Amino acid sequence: MPSSAQEQMLDHEQHVGPGTLQRIVAAWPRRATIRTDMAGFMEPQPYAPDLTDYPAHLIPFAEHPRFLDAPEEQRRLVNTLAWQAYNARVIAAEEHVANPTFEMLGHGVFPGIDRYEIKEAVRQSHIDEVWHTYMHMTAMRRTQEAHGLTAEPDYSHPVTNRRLYRLTADRSEKWERNLLFLLWTVVGEVSINNFLELLARDRTIQPMHALVARLHARDEAAHGPVLADVMKDVFVHLNKEQRELLIRTLPDAIVAFGAEDYELWPEILAFAGVKGAEEIIADTRRLPDADLLLTDFSTVQRLVRELEIEDRVEYDFAAGRPAK
Ligand SMILES: [Fe+2]
Ligand SMILES: [Fe+2]
Repeated sequence: MPSSAQEQMLDHEQHVGPGTLQRIVAAWPRRATIRTDMAGFMEPQPYAPDLTDYPAHLIPFAEHPRFLDAPEEQRRLVNTLAWQAYNARVIAAEEHVANPTFEMLGHGVFPGIDRYEIKEAVRQSHIDEVWHTYMHMTAMRRTQEAHGLTAEPDYSHPVTNRRLYRLTADRSEKWERNLLFLLWTVVGEVSINNFLELLARDRTIQPMHALVARLHARDEAAHGPVLADVMKDVFVHLNKEQRELLIRTLPDAIVAFGAEDYELWPEILAFAGVKGAEEIIADTRRLPDADLLLTDFSTVQRLVRELEIEDRVEYDFAAGRPAK
């Protein structure tokens, strides 16, 4: 398994220098999670009853008095379903947004993807994503088995995807819908490690759950710079109207990626049988920053600077919200 020094090296390499892509491509056979001996991960781990499935502090209503009043069994089920939903959100982003975009990139749908090394990096990333879905799918199955879960809420349409589909439904031109998929993928790929890091080093959860996030993050440390390079290559080949669409929609993509899913939380609470779900959610949404799961989008900000559109993108990166 690669050292954390290598992970840090990749983190620091986000968007720097023309040699970065070559180094990422060359390192893939050693770095890619799919190339690691996964036998240990695929072996069922003993379940640690004193640890949770999902970090309790990430449940936005964890301190609400009516939630705290709920029986422990219900609160534990909410925690387990939150972990399942986290995996489902990752899988949905990969299966329905990133992978279709990688396919389009491979098929020459977007201009500017001409260099061999960028094509190679795109293929490697696509392979990684298919593997990630498999890892998260396995993790969900293990959780079902550990808890005897035979039914679950439908969390296969998470907030990030729903907001993309809402925008693409309003667009009549195929190039517009394709660009929105590219935008969602780029924002997701340069930011996903912040999402994975929410769990990757958490010691209050099942060690296997933190490990899934950590293994995934190792690949994503390479995907970030790859997709930043993709965007830079494509952007210079776009016409004014196409660039305008990206610039105008970038804040929506950031907000969608970092959003708490308030369609899903009520379903999870109801499924677990927690009383007062509506009140719990309404009170929680009134708290400052309640709609945000992630606020650090400095990697997107760096890309925006490199595209030289910083003064045109209406997102306040310091405040972590749209500029207007
Ligand atoms: Fe991934
Ligand atoms: Fe990725």
